[in-house]
This record gives sequence, C-alpha cells and structure tokens, in this order.
Amino acid sequence: MTETHRPKTIVTRKLPAAVEARMAELFDLELNASDVPMTEAQLKEAVARCEVFVPTVSDDITADVLSAAGSQLKLIANFGVGVDHIDLAAARAKDILVTNTPGVLTEDTADMVMALILAVPRRLAEGEKQVRAGKWRGWAPTGMLGHRVNGKRLGIIGMGRIGRAVAQRARAFGLEIHYHNRHRLPDQVEEELAATHHEDLDDMLADIDILTINCPYTSETRHLIDEQRLALLGSDVYIINAARGEIIDEQALTDALEKGTIAGAGLDVYENEPHIGERLLALENVVLLPHLGSATFEGREAMGDRVIANIRVWADGHRPPDQVLE
Ligand code: DGY
Repeated sequence: MTETHRPKTIVTRKLPAAVEARMAELFDLELNASDVPMTEAQLKEAVARCEVFVPTVSDDITADVLSAAGSQLKLIANFGVGVDHIDLAAARAKDILVTNTPGVLTEDTADMVMALILAVPRRLAEGEKQVRAGKWRGWAPTGMLGHRVNGKRLGIIGMGRIGRAVAQRARAFGLEIHYHNRHRLPDQVEEELAATHHEDLDDMLADIDILTINCPYTSETRHLIDEQRLALLGSDVYIINAARGEIIDEQALTDALEKGTIAGAGLDVYENEPHIGERLLALENVVLLPHLGSATFEGREAMGDRVIANIRVWADGHRPPDQVLE
C-alpha cells in the first residue's frame, strides 16, 4: 500500500479494539461507535461516500443499498465468511470487489457445532435450567435421560472447511460420519475422515441419527431442509444448525419439534435474526444460541486481520487474497 493512499473506509459495527486501532493507522477510517446496526438509509449514505465498505452478517447489502453507491466504492471487505447478506450480482454489476474471511473461524465454528451435538441429545440446557430453578431433587436412575452420542450416525450437509473440521471432532467422539456435498471429497480425505459420501441427500437423511448443516446459504440451499425432508428423519433424530437459518424452513422445523416427529434441535442461527418465533422459544427439546459460532476473541481478531489484509492488498493494486467469486 502506498504511503499516501489511505482509502476512505467505513465499518458498520464495532470491531475488536486491536483491529480498529490497526485500521485507524492504515486507513482513513470511520467507525460506528454506537454498534447499533445501521438502517437501510444509513447504509446507503455510507456506500455513497467510501472507497472501502466493511459490513458484517448483520447488514443487508441489497441491490437497492448498492444502487446508492457511487463509482468511488471499489471494495466490500466483509467481516465474516458468509456473504449471503450481500447481493453479489449487484456488486459485480457495479465493478465492486467483494472479499470475506475464510479459514480463520473454522475451528471455533466447528467447536460450537460439536458443543451442540453433545448438548442436545444429553439435554444440557434443560438440566442447567432445572438446577437454576431449584427444581433438582438429586440423582435418580431414570432422571433426565438423554441419548448416547457415541456410535451414532452423523450426517453432514456441506463438507467445506467447517464440515470437515466437524467430521474430525465427531470421529473422536465415536460418531460414524456420513456426508452430502456438491462435490465428492478426494478418496484420501474420505479415508482420513472415515466419511461415507451420499450422492442423494434424501437417502442420507433416512439413515442418520444427527444432522448438521454446514453448507453456505445460496438460492439453491434456501429451505433445503423443508417439511418433506424433515419427514424423512426419524423421531429420534436431532438437527444442528450453525450455518444459516434460511437453510431450514423454521416453521416446518418448529412443527416437527412440537409434534415430536424429530427429537430435538441445536440452533445457533435463525431465519429472521435476531427474531426467534414464540413457538420455538417455548420448546424444551431445543438449545438456542445467539449466533455464537465464531464468537471467540481469537477468531474475531483473526477475522479483522483478514479484512485488513484484503484491503491492503487491494490498495496496493493487486487482487485481494479472499476475493469472493460468484
Ligand atoms: C460468518 O462469518 O459468516 C459468521 O456467520 C459470522 O461470524
């Protein structure tokens, strides 16, 4: 990056202090000190006057928002790996590059998935609530029994970085790994993970005990798990989702959980964040987390480092390392 080129950069949310400090050294920076998500009008106002825009998953960067961007906007350096909240076609039409932060939140997100895989069948949240409510009457042979995780069949939808990191962890807990992915993994990776590929998603769903969603949200994966596919799962199957809420039809999932046609769910993401339906909130057989997958100090600083690296490489006139291609 040339000494003189300090690109005008607007960040939509509060970032870790060290990241903001480093950005302030390098860029002509405008921060959102209040940390309240920007309104659509504020997003439009921001994209109309910066060269580099740094949004997060909590900002909807629609075609309408981007229509307000002048030709000065060159780069959207997203703070996060998922870019489903950005209209990539609209960005491309305006020659705006988009980058993300792959790799640096894989392990944290996989840990969160594994935590839910353990928490839901073993009823951790229910037990914790019982203790805090003063309702625990001591150990009992039939008290709050859950299902054993060891030896069960785990179905993973999406075998990218996070899916594979989940598979590694799950193997260590004695789970049998099954997966469905757009592309089959190389033989050697399948062998390392002892993973069985299912070309047909429905076949996999009919033959697993726990399902975890780890694919990106795109127009093809919207409501991938709908009423029909939920009906393929048995009444003792658990669903985990730490990817994107829109991949599951949340109303259909709530119906299935209420009727007991599936056993339970561990959710870190929702269709209309931060809104969660009353019916879902009322259920006992769910663990509900507030989109915490990448929420570690280390992960968020590393995400900031990737954002900075992308902006610097772009400002130096090169292709940024994490450019997202449609
Ligand atoms: C991402 O990076 O896409 C997460 O969902 C937010 O950290």
